[in-house]
Amino acid sequence: MDFDVKDKELAAQGALRMEWAERSMPVLNSIRERFEREKPLKGVRIGACLHVTTETGVLMKTLAAGGADASLCASNPLSTQDDLAATLVVNEGIPVYAIKGEDRDTYFGHLRAILDRSPNITMDDGADLVTEVLTERKDLIPEIIGSTEETTTGVIRLRAMAQDGVLQFPVIAVNDANTKHFFDNRYGTGQSSIDGIIRATNRLIAGSVFVVSGYGWCGKGLASRASGMGASVVVTEVDPLPALEAVMDGFRVMPMADAAKIGDFFCTVTGDKGVIRMEHIDAMKDGAIISNSGHFDVEIDVAALEKAAKGKREIRFLVDEYTMKDGRRIIVIGGGRLVNLATAEGHPSSVMDMSFANQALAAETLVKKGKEMENKVYSVPQEIDDEIARLKLESMGVKIDTLTPEQEEYLSSWQFGT
Ligand code: ADE
Repeated sequence: MDFDVKDKELAAQGALRMEWAERSMPVLNSIRERFEREKPLKGVRIGACLHVTTETGVLMKTLAAGGADASLCASNPLSTQDDLAATLVVNEGIPVYAIKGEDRDTYFGHLRAILDRSPNITMDDGADLVTEVLTERKDLIPEIIGSTEETTTGVIRLRAMAQDGVLQFPVIAVNDANTKHFFDNRYGTGQSSIDGIIRATNRLIAGSVFVVSGYGWCGKGLASRASGMGASVVVTEVDPLPALEAVMDGFRVMPMADAAKIGDFFCTVTGDKGVIRMEHIDAMKDGAIISNSGHFDVEIDVAALEKAAKGKREIRFLVDEYTMKDGRRIIVIGGGRLVNLATAEGHPSSVMDMSFANQALAAETLVKKGKEMENKVYSVPQEIDDEIARLKLESMGVKIDTLTPEQEEYLSSWQFGT
């Protein structure tokens, strides 16, 4: 079997960590049990480009249990957990191409290795696989039933492809499922980004000024967690509606030019480029700590900082300290790449349970219905979203009420009024 991982000797440790993750993924486990019986993915080649974490390991096992010939590469050069990659290869027989810290050439080489296996379904987190197919490997298109997409940034890219008429197969936007973005983007990013910042720096959040750029689902989660830990939270936004929400959620809202002067921590989660630029960094305090939790490393202009700084050293693991000409020290975590995966372990398993249940069921949907679908971006079917929410509640032992027949009638009628 072909693969490229850092060290197969790490497999035992990876297996233990995957077992730990699996315990918090009851919905995905129940899907795996059904997949084992029904084999809905029998013979289907699935090429996945996801963060190579223990939770992704459980997803890959689930796809394999469903009969898929699944393979995996990293969707980010810094997010790979090398022990997990090793256990998938050694103990699960799944080809993995991912090494934490891989350079750009290796990253794209790993993508190409997945595509060389001629997938029938591609599973993306950021749309790099689909982009590679549509630009470099058009020969693979006839074999592709469709694709799934994990994240907001990827869905935006794919919608742009559909808009430009270049998308050549259907895509299911897993990110758009309610059981994905309400939980993964909000509670997942909220907790794991703070986790990454703390593991990297071991600094106290309480009493600090914590600047969150972007008040989408991820920004909401992050602001609420930073506030819960005692930070005074400042939000920067470009869109009036989320800016207003942030104000009414009790946060100070101001332009980055003002926030730059007062922030102790900065974390970008906008999905756009150039959010923290040199003009902002020039205004920051000595010791300001900058990180990003948006998908790509474009939100902080690290290249400009590299140029402007007179010195740089890695003061802690994946923590770069830049010394500016005026003596101020500016700290960047993980080179501006996803802080929650670079210096922590990504979202906790319990939220990835729902995200990856959506992935597994989206793959099954593509196998069943892909041939009838058009070359556009689809939402996850509502019944799947509802079923995942129901199963998650059940696994948590939470019961809810059901509508009485009178209530059902009331909700579907217009005659009852004042
Ligand atoms: N994205 C964010 N957290 C993740 C995790 N734990 N596994 C896979 N993808 C992720």
